[in-house]
Amino acid sequence: MSNNIVIAIDGYSSCGKSTLAKALAQKLHFIYVDSGAMYRAVTLYFLRHHIDLHDHQQVVEALKNIHLNFHSRDYQTHITLNDEEVSEEIRQMPVSDNVSAVAALREVRYEMVKQQQRMGRSKNIVMDGRDIGTTVFPDAQLKIFMTADPKVRAERRYKELHEKNPDITLEEVFENIAHRDYQDTTREESPLMRAADAIILDNTNLTPDQQLEFALNKIKGLSEP
Ligand code: DC
Repeated sequence: MSNNIVIAIDGYSSCGKSTLAKALAQKLHFIYVDSGAMYRAVTLYFLRHHIDLHDHQQVVEALKNIHLNFHSRDYQTHITLNDEEVSEEIRQMPVSDNVSAVAALREVRYEMVKQQQRMGRSKNIVMDGRDIGTTVFPDAQLKIFMTADPKVRAERRYKELHEKNPDITLEEVFENIAHRDYQDTTREESPLMRAADAIILDNTNLTPDQQLEFALNKIKGLSEP
C-alpha cells in the first residue's frame, strides 16, 4: 500500500483545469501531470504518420513506436515525443481538431491510462484530464470537476491562441470547444463525466486565485478529523 496523495482534476475543455492543477502542484510541492498533453502528443504522431484511426492494427503498431516523457520545469508541461520536444506543436489547431477522435480510441486510452497510473503509484501528484477521477484514479483523495460557461471558456482560450496565431477567430475556437465537449462526453470509452464523489467547481466568475483558495480549503478539509 502506498501513502502518496493523488488530486484528480477533471472537466470540460478550456475551463482552466491546468491553471488550477499547476498552481496546486506548486503550492503543495506535488508533481503536475497534464494527461491531455499525452493524448495530444499521440495525435501529433498519428497525423504525421497518417495513421488510419479505423485500422486497429495500424493504431496498435503506431502506439508501440510512441515514447512519451514529461520534463517538468517551473510547473510548465514539457513533453517529448520520441525525444523531440513537442509542447508547442501539440497546442496548435491541427492537433486540437483531431485529438478527441484519437482520445476516443480504446487502444489509445488503454495505453495512456496504464502510463498515468504508473506515474501516480509512488509520488504525490496533481493530474488533470477527463477521466482521472472516474477511471485512472478512482481512489484519489480529492476529486474536482471543473466547469464554466462555454462562451467564457472560448474567450479565454481565444486570448491565449490569438497571441501566437493572429488569424484565428473567436468562432473557430468556440466551435472547437463545443465539438470537443460533445465528443468527450458522448464517446463510449471513459466519457467525460463527474465522479460521484467529485466536488464541482464552476469558475465562470472566479479568478485563478479564488479557485486555488477553494481547492486548498478542500485539501485542508481532508486532513482535519
Ligand atoms: O485537456 P486537453 O484539452 O489538452 O485535452 C485534449 C483532448 O484529450 C481532449 O479533447 C480530451 C482528451 N483527453 C481525454 O480524453 N482524457 C484525458 N484524461 C485527458 C484528455
